[in-house]
Amino acid sequence: MAETMSPTMERTVPRVLMCAPTFFEVSYVINPWMTDHVHNTTAERSRRQWDALRETVTRHADVALEEPAHGQPDMTFAANAGLVFGNTFVPSRFRYAERQGEEAPNRDWFRRHGFDIVELPDDVFFEGAGDGLFDRGVSRRLWMGYGHRSDQAAAPALASLLDVEVLPLKLADPRFYHLDTCFCPLANGYTLYFPAAFDAPSLALIEKHIPPSHRLAVHEHDALDFACNAVNLGKVVILNRASPDLRSRLEGAGFMVIEVALDEFMKSGGAAKCLTLRLDEVVGT
Ligand code: ARG
Repeated sequence: MAETMSPTMERTVPRVLMCAPTFFEVSYVINPWMTDHVHNTTAERSRRQWDALRETVTRHADVALEEPAHGQPDMTFAANAGLVFGNTFVPSRFRYAERQGEEAPNRDWFRRHGFDIVELPDDVFFEGAGDGLFDRGVSRRLWMGYGHRSDQAAAPALASLLDVEVLPLKLADPRFYHLDTCFCPLANGYTLYFPAAFDAPSLALIEKHIPPSHRLAVHEHDALDFACNAVNLGKVVILNRASPDLRSRLEGAGFMVIEVALDEFMKSGGAAKCLTLRLDEVVGT
């Protein structure tokens, strides 16, 4: 194990949290994807798709499992538990009452697993790694989505809690209500994103910080297939589906694309990235 290794042998296997879809269903509507799908998912199909994702992620990362809570159908979207930075965990404060019951079990899990819990002010909504994504090219830089679920006020609060640079991005299209549905920092500073999901100043901010050579702008059809909702583990990019064009651009940037069908979860407005939470977000200098 890591404890017994010399520093030079330290493990670099990523660590990822997932939460089984035991209680997953669409039983309320809090985003446009859910509208036509109330009671339209099956336990068997969601379990099969989630198992396939877990098996795929397990080939490239260590997966920890959080016990799902009864009556919290969206808890399987582990990305929304909170924001991890080094050994610090900032618990989410969900906008909608339907998901607020996830907050206590998430806090408990991170406390039991040795994380330092750092709290945002009570009156600030913030939905964790759904809306907070660390840049993988520049250390201590957090991209933060606001406008649908998280409050703009979360940006200065996170900057001072974590001592990081926060670049707030205003989400303009209700279908892309969390940042991780339309923006995905990848290894080596590449970034997958759907430009039309952002307002003009936010798009300008993205273009100011990410050079054209590293921007992977996706077309609407890929965005609607949740291609930006990707799990990046080293060279591997795991996503629901990528068009041949997007696949070849990702491969041209040195990535290996793995598709895992997750349409049952898309009925709730989520896919690969939402179903995972990185537990080893590196604190750079
Ligand atoms: N039904 C869930 C919600 O609307 C889906 C969450 C997807 N998670 C994400 N990180 N995008 O809250």
